[in-house]
Amino acid sequence: MNLFDDDRTADREPDGADGETGITRRHLIRGGAAAGVVAAVAVASPVEVSATPTGPTSLRGGSRIRHGHRNPSLAFEAVAINEDDAVTVPGGYLAQVINPWGDPIEPGGPAFRFDARNTAADQARQFGMGHDGMALFEISRSRGLMVTNHEAIDAESILFPSAPDYSDTETVRKAQNAHGVSVAEIALRGGSWRTIRSRFARRITANTPMEITGPAAGHPLMRTSADPSGRRSLGTVNNCGDGRTPWRTYLTCEENFNRYFGTTAGGFTPTELMERYGVGEGDNPWWLGDPRFDLAENPNEPNRFGWIVEIDPFDRDAAPRKRTALGRLKHENAAFAEGRRGQAVVYTGDDERFQHLYKFVSRHAWRRGDWRRHPMRTSPLDDGILYVARFDDDGTGEWVPLVPGSVPGYASLAEILIDTRGAAAAVGATPMDRPEWIAVHPDQPGIAYGTFTNNTRRTEADAANPRANNRSGHIIRWHNDDGDHAATSFTWSMFALAGAGLGSGDGSTIPPGDAFGSPDGLAFDPDGRLWIQTDGSQPMPCNNQMLAADPLSGDIRRFLVGPKGAEITGWTMTTDQRTMFVNVQH
Ligand code: FEO
Ligand code: CA
Ligand code: CA
Repeated sequence: MNLFDDDRTADREPDGADGETGITRRHLIRGGAAAGVVAAVAVASPVEVSATPTGPTSLRGGSRIRHGHRNPSLAFEAVAINEDDAVTVPGGYLAQVINPWGDPIEPGGPAFRFDARNTAADQARQFGMGHDGMALFEISRSRGLMVTNHEAIDAESILFPSAPDYSDTETVRKAQNAHGVSVAEIALRGGSWRTIRSRFARRITANTPMEITGPAAGHPLMRTSADPSGRRSLGTVNNCGDGRTPWRTYLTCEENFNRYFGTTAGGFTPTELMERYGVGEGDNPWWLGDPRFDLAENPNEPNRFGWIVEIDPFDRDAAPRKRTALGRLKHENAAFAEGRRGQAVVYTGDDERFQHLYKFVSRHAWRRGDWRRHPMRTSPLDDGILYVARFDDDGTGEWVPLVPGSVPGYASLAEILIDTRGAAAAVGATPMDRPEWIAVHPDQPGIAYGTFTNNTRRTEADAANPRANNRSGHIIRWHNDDGDHAATSFTWSMFALAGAGLGSGDGSTIPPGDAFGSPDGLAFDPDGRLWIQTDGSQPMPCNNQMLAADPLSGDIRRFLVGPKGAEITGWTMTTDQRTMFVNVQH
């Protein structure tokens, strides 16, 4: 979600229409007369949209595909910019809604209620709000587990009938249960994807028991009165982007966790560590009804958030694991790559102005060890080195290790990982224009791309952040030395400067007909086609959108435009590339 866009065009202004109970929620995507309901239900409430070709074309470009050769060409007709309250996709494709907020995660669960009077217990068995990252784990060609992040809520008149009173514990619980992650089983039946009954269906919320693993587990800063071990926490919040591992686990990323902490205690002063992460400025006052989020009572509780959390979607009894070796920051996503010696490499960005880009490299090859048999017991993600990026103006760069001895002022690895932002600044990492998603090229060795969404507070440009008052953002591509994702140095170049397009005078480098601003979600499909999703004000009259880019030719083309006021985020696809899933958040 866009918390930092000055323009606030993506702000959530629910229309509050709630009387159209005769309209089925599957029809909402068609817009038209149902537009107000889309704002109240589909826009304010997140949905997943699947785009499936209606004819013989597939998303992979039909006959232009040659097996054995990646062909990222764009074989669809661009959709025009628009501000319709609908999801627009190219001719030949069908968009349908699945898994909206408030639907049960499996048939037979508590039904969605337009009057928002469902209980906290109901919400714990329904899809959460604010869909963001997601991944499809296929079981067969027509069936799989869809794992979806729930980043944030629209509280007033959407999740609740009116403005919530967070001093009421039931109210806090309902909000907490609308956060987290959903695991649902979906199947293609009669040409439509739908949620089916499943032994895997599961909600993970802000109260689900978790284990804390890796170098920061057990550190005094991780201990609370409820958990003197510093190894067992409750819940995950503000789950933004995601990742997946080749050992079939899901990585969910905790982003703006600071929004849930505060206190009513007089004279409370946040610590330097809290201030570095904006803790104490929460706009979801859960502390009024849940003392766990009261900073005066539980000053270490925020240290137990801001992590990448590993989930085994195929084992609903396995507690999610907070993998502290990957650092504590406002994680956007977690993009997996394999190092040349088989190391697990995870790229992750810290989405705030002037924050940094990171990568973790595991000590051991991920195929070693027994985590493939017991993926949640041990993990290659618990032992390795976290690096932060320094982009030099000559087009080279360095991955600077955040390890004891090389980070001034930090005595232990646990301290470095708990205060990753402070450690990154101490080693001279490059402050970026809000790092968002990273996407790893499927077969070009050592190459990855990242979105840097905007930064209107930048006054001094540098080569990697080349525009002061950066309103529209950019996409950088980096090439690790020797084509090895585990390498400690890289070269980089600008892939695209977003904006109104060439000739507009805003410095953008993209075709004006397929222009975009505030790139955020980013993913490669198996053919090497790069999908770009936006979150923020667009430089022309258009809702948030998704475009495809051919990195070989530089061609960029608009594939989808979302409804009014929505963000388009999250991306996954069936392996036959006939159905793509994206989220319409808020
Ligand atoms: Fe959750 Fe940076 O978007
Ligand atoms: Ca985002
Ligand atoms: Ca964003």
